[in-house]
Amino acid sequence: MTDTELIEAAKKAAKNSYSPYSGYTVGAALLSKDGKVFTGCNIENAAYSPTNCAERTAFFKAVSEGVREFVKIAVVGGFKLDFKDYFAPCGVCRQVMREFCGEEFVILLGKNGNEYRKLTLEELLPCSFSNESMV
Ligand code: THU
Repeated sequence: MTDTELIEAAKKAAKNSYSPYSGYTVGAALLSKDGKVFTGCNIENAAYSPTNCAERTAFFKAVSEGVREFVKIAVVGGFKLDFKDYFAPCGVCRQVMREFCGEEFVILLGKNGNEYRKLTLEELLPCSFSNESMV
């Protein structure tokens, strides 16, 4: 699975975004070490706080299927499927990634067109607290 293919999967997943309150559509595609792709979108709620981010949807789908080892995730976000700028995962999603991924885990930020940015979890969540601290 190439970076570009994973970003395309994230763009496709964003089409399922349920975001009637913000209009901000987010898609994620998570590649596991055994080669499976788990996609996710943001799912909003009238009570606001139950809203789930696209990245966590993808992670929770994978973990609930028994998959816990991951290589990289692609994310896109923007109003009404217009991914005009790079979108980066929120702090809560970065922390969820850290639960299952090492600092070398790769995050691909996509946008309209073919350009993308490639970052590590260490860059997005430096000096992190994780299960490695809980020993
Ligand atoms: N959102 C995500 O899906 N992922 C993030 O990392 C940040 C924000 C969603 C939540 C909400 O539905 C919308 O984007 C606006 O905050």
